[in-house]
Amino acid sequence: MSDFLTVMRSRTSEVHSQVEREISLEKHLSDLSGYRDLLLRFASVWIPVEASIKASELRNCETIQLDRRMRSDDLRRDLNTVKTSLADRTTGVCEYVPVPEMTLEEAIGALYVLEGSRFGGSVILREAGHLGITPAWGGKFFSGYGNETAAMWKQFTKWADSVLAVDRLDSAAEGADRCFSYFLGQFQKTPA
Ligand code: HEM
Repeated sequence: MSDFLTVMRSRTSEVHSQVEREISLEKHLSDLSGYRDLLLRFASVWIPVEASIKASELRNCETIQLDRRMRSDDLRRDLNTVKTSLADRTTGVCEYVPVPEMTLEEAIGALYVLEGSRFGGSVILREAGHLGITPAWGGKFFSGYGNETAAMWKQFTKWADSVLAVDRLDSAAEGADRCFSYFLGQFQKTPA
């Protein structure tokens, strides 16, 4: 395994498990309002994190197809399809989390979290099928790159491993950990 993945996994496995536990089937996938709530929680973190990644030095890196990896528009479209928006105040997550500027290392760590979430996304999409959610109806955000999913993951992680010398992995892991904690914070929020 690459140094990049070894460090990222060891530094984030605990918070990943915590996040995974928060996305419970009964809470979010038993009816459409639970699914709306899930999408809103994602959006409140995803959209500002992606904006910060796009504003970082990572934007100058052509090899990883950054634009293709961005999913805020899919998320907005899905929110629209299931008829909700961040203006919906019932969930307690009616605002974007504030995400500061990121260094290149932090942006790579954050992108590791966003890209890795596609693994869980495919599970969510399958489990939400009984609500009528499909990639074409409300579930585009959770759908992967089809049969290119493994190749896209490999392209990113291989590239990250090649650009980050060992002494920069710590900052990348901090960026990943911080990104995971934004999600955890929003998933744990209860309505005011
Ligand atoms: C119900 C929710 C989730 C489930 C069931 C889930 C499940 C999984 C699974 C099965 C993997 C692949 C593990 C492997 O092959 O080693 C994975 C990897 C990953 N997931 Fe999740 N996940 C969930 C939510 C999330 C969320 C919300 C995020 C981020 C916000 C996330 C971030 C990651 C990352 C970064 C990896 C890559 C780990 C690595 O290979 O280095 N996951 N997840």
